[in-house]
Amino acid sequence: MIRIATGVGLPFRDDAVLEALADTGARVRVDVPLGDCTTIRLGGRASILVQPQRLDELVWVLKKSHRLGLELVVLGGGSNLVVVAEHVPATVLHTRRLDWIVPEAGGLRCGAGASLVGAIKRAMSNHLAGLEGLSGIPGTVGGAVYMNAGGRHAEMGEFVRSVTVIERDGGAREIPGTEIDWSYRSANLGDAIVAEVRLTMPFGAPHRLRRRYDEILAEKAASQPLSAWSAGCVFKNPAGASAGRLIDVSGCKGMEVGGAQVSPVHANFIVNTGGGRPGDFRSLMARVQETVHRSHGVRLEPEVVIWS
Ligand code: FAD
Ligand code: EPU
Repeated sequence: MIRIATGVGLPFRDDAVLEALADTGARVRVDVPLGDCTTIRLGGRASILVQPQRLDELVWVLKKSHRLGLELVVLGGGSNLVVVAEHVPATVLHTRRLDWIVPEAGGLRCGAGASLVGAIKRAMSNHLAGLEGLSGIPGTVGGAVYMNAGGRHAEMGEFVRSVTVIERDGGAREIPGTEIDWSYRSANLGDAIVAEVRLTMPFGAPHRLRRRYDEILAEKAASQPLSAWSAGCVFKNPAGASAGRLIDVSGCKGMEVGGAQVSPVHANFIVNTGGGRPGDFRSLMARVQETVHRSHGVRLEPEVVIWS
């Protein structure tokens, strides 16, 4: 049975491809505005977006795409992503429905599309300590592993017992967390797709974990524009320095291009003030880079992922 939600304005339409993807059991949508799937709320459209709900559907999507020669890009919670392209020239694999969180001895087993906040809350209620250090980070568990999300209080890699990844040809393997090359904002997993994650944590008293969660969230709410539309920090911190501080002291806070603005709260966030367009974000990013380079001689590297 074909389950295709039909949209309008699709630049091309290949019914054989749509049918092959729908045959996997995954939900297939066409002509999807990706601004709705990203926290910065801007960006172009996906001609095809596929949402598997089970691991076997995910494997089938990958096998079929590989056979058909389709290029796939992966979308989690869209909280570290800016879609600049008007039409993404690839099939978008959206992990949102791979959303299970299952407590197991000393940890949790999570689908890649499970919300990180949901996993943190489940860990706390199951007396599992540490993950609350990632308080304030949106997105999915799969995205947090792929990006090795974190900050001052914790990094995702610290809690990973193993990751089940699916390669682009559909081959699956489980990698122990100790064999992953964790680095600043990357698990160095290349093309592999994070399908399921096993987390391991020591015991902690729920009221203490909750207090730490609230404290970290309050600290972030005071220094970051958590409720604005953004993709988090735009640039990586250069070795031994803070990109936010460099941007701030270079005088960029409040700088605007169209509907994109350097946040007056934290200078390493570019926020969409409403009606922001991808081009605005791109231009403002370049302007910030130039300004910091001129005043401090430092070339800031993007931390956000850009689909152009
Ligand atoms: P997406 O944005 O959907 O994708 C990011 C990248 O990961 C893309 O390249 C995508 O292809 C890839 N990806 C996603 N899922 C998978 C998968 N299953 N398999 C393979 N590749 C995948 N980040 C921090 O590290 N620390 C912070 O403190 C922090 N604070 C933030 C605060 C705010 C308000 C916002 C908006 C963002 C913040 N971020 C922070 C950035 C972001 O939340 C994290 O990077 C998050 O882990 C990204 O997860 P995601 O599911 O949204 O990934
Ligand atoms: N600062 C300024 N002006 C600003 C912003 C920051 O002077 O506009 C100063 C602060 O006062 C502080 C220093 O810069 O002295 C560092 O700032 P902060 O504590 O906010 O940390 P950060 O290095 O800017 C990093 C991560 C954040 C993460 C926080 C907390 C990067 C690029 N950023 O920010 O991650 O939430 O630590 O752990 O690594 C993200 O990756 O998207 C993100 C938000």
